[in-house]
Amino acid sequence: MYDLGVKITRMRSRRLLRAAAGEMAASDPWRRLGIDGKGCFAAVAGPGMETYAAFVDGRRAGHVSLTLNGLLRGYIRVMFVGEAFRGRGVGEALIAFAERRILRDSPNVFLCVSSFNAGARRFYRRLGYVRAGLFRDFIVKGADELLLRKTAGPFRGYSPARRRHGKS
Ligand SMILES: CC(C)(COP(=O)(O)OP(=O)(O)OC[C@H]1O[C@@H](n2cnc3c(N)ncnc32)[C@H](O)[C@@H]1OP(=O)(O)O)[C@@H](O)C(=O)NCCC(=O)NCCS
Repeated sequence: MYDLGVKITRMRSRRLLRAAAGEMAASDPWRRLGIDGKGCFAAVAGPGMETYAAFVDGRRAGHVSLTLNGLLRGYIRVMFVGEAFRGRGVGEALIAFAERRILRDSPNVFLCVSSFNAGARRFYRRLGYVRAGLFRDFIVKGADELLLRKTAGPFRGYSPARRRHGKS
């Protein structure tokens, strides 16, 4: 991982969450999928969502939103790094943070990536995510959503406390 001095904190302010949603809505893949600011706001601030912002030199550089509710416990719903900050390790820092947060409670990290999002697919592959499923024509016709998973092992016998102490 690159040491950029990325600081990551929970984002609770509705104003900041709205600003973050606006940035997503103006960017692919959300723009191409037709997900507007309201839809993006639901993704970052809906029930059960935890959103964390990354700051570089005091500037908000991106955010990650995850949930530990639902069938796919440990689901990263949003990964976003502002265009000016991409390719510098901010995304890697955000996802490492999200993985640590999820693995405290559950052994699986899930996320979806659009079939057309080649850069993000390469990014997740490099970080050890593997395809676990495919939702054809899921949001818009002609674009599939790939379900990816990274796992620390099966649910049974999983002990986050042991992982924390490095004895897994
Ligand atoms: C996908 C995304 C989150 C990745 O974030 P990022 O901050 O650009 O990611 P990183 O900088 O950690 O890694 C990206 C690349 O930069 C390279 N990189 C990382 N740190 C670097 C550094 N300090 N110097 C040079 N290159 C670096 C990595 O090797 C990586 O290469 P890869 O494309 O082969 O994987 C970001 O590009 C993004 O928000 N895209 C738009 C929204 C999106 O697609 N989100 C995902 C939806 S599923």
